[in-house]
Amino acid sequence: MKTSDCIDAGTEYCPCYLAETGECIMCSQLQGKVFCDCTNWKGVCIYQEYMWNHLHAKESRKEYRCKILICEQAAPLVILLTVQVNRTLARELKQPGAYVFLRPLDSPPYFEIPLSVMKADERAETVVLAVQERGVKTKYLFKQSTVKKEVEILLRGPFWNGILGLSYLKSLQKEKALLVIRGIGQAPAVPVAKKLIQGGNEVEVLLDTGKIQSDFAAALFREMGCHVVAQKVLDVEKLLIPDEVLTYIKDSFMKNGVKLIYCGGPELLHRGVSALIQQTGSKVDLACSNDAKLCCGEGICGSCQTRIVNGSRTKICKTQLDPRDLYGGR
Ligand code: FES
Repeated sequence: MKTSDCIDAGTEYCPCYLAETGECIMCSQLQGKVFCDCTNWKGVCIYQEYMWNHLHAKESRKEYRCKILICEQAAPLVILLTVQVNRTLARELKQPGAYVFLRPLDSPPYFEIPLSVMKADERAETVVLAVQERGVKTKYLFKQSTVKKEVEILLRGPFWNGILGLSYLKSLQKEKALLVIRGIGQAPAVPVAKKLIQGGNEVEVLLDTGKIQSDFAAALFREMGCHVVAQKVLDVEKLLIPDEVLTYIKDSFMKNGVKLIYCGGPELLHRGVSALIQQTGSKVDLACSNDAKLCCGEGICGSCQTRIVNGSRTKICKTQLDPRDLYGGR
């Protein structure tokens, strides 16, 4: 996988503002260079699109006023929101890694929360989002959603870079995959499992309920045909993955034929698994949830900027990376 791969390249949102400021992630000419050095062709010339659009960015994502149809308390700290959207948005949010920004109607833009899409139903024109109560913004959204009836919210999207290593997920066919997930990381893992099952893969899920103490997505995994194992995957006091879990994961790809591991949870988990793969020298593929602090999602604010292993900085709200470029392991 190429390091510089923009998730929005070739979509209706490309070219974006980054083209106007000479910081396009993909196009060398839109970075101010005089030659074409297109490293990851997506079927569309971003430079030409920019010219045709009179040297302007395309219109960015809209904010929609949507109704919360169902607010279900899945655990003391977790609510599942079923939100009415339009059919196009539901279709665009069906893929693994899809997420949206949500904020209560009466709140300012800085109350926006990035939330992964757990389920999207094109026919019903709905999406299901899991929210964990943590800080000021989620507490406010909890209050608004659970106290009032017929709540309306503002939803901005679609965004797609909620998972890193997407190409591995999309290309795996008729193999074995292991999902190691913890806490609220269950929500974005649901479309991951769905995609893998659609590819004819055997999927095992190591599920740690974590701080939320709820396996709210376990039934969905089982319905899809995944084998779910309840397992504590992180020792939060020692800040590491327990030895028996590391051995289990190692055996899965060294002895039991697992070709892809997906980690959904805190970065500690991604780092531990990435290091394990590095130590063994295995070629097993790794995908993981994108745990960056997302604020604008458009590559503008810089809150998600991260240094990768080659020393360069990248905005991972838009850049699709191999997790080992971020956590080491090559
Ligand atoms: S979230 Fe703003 S630049 Fe990435």
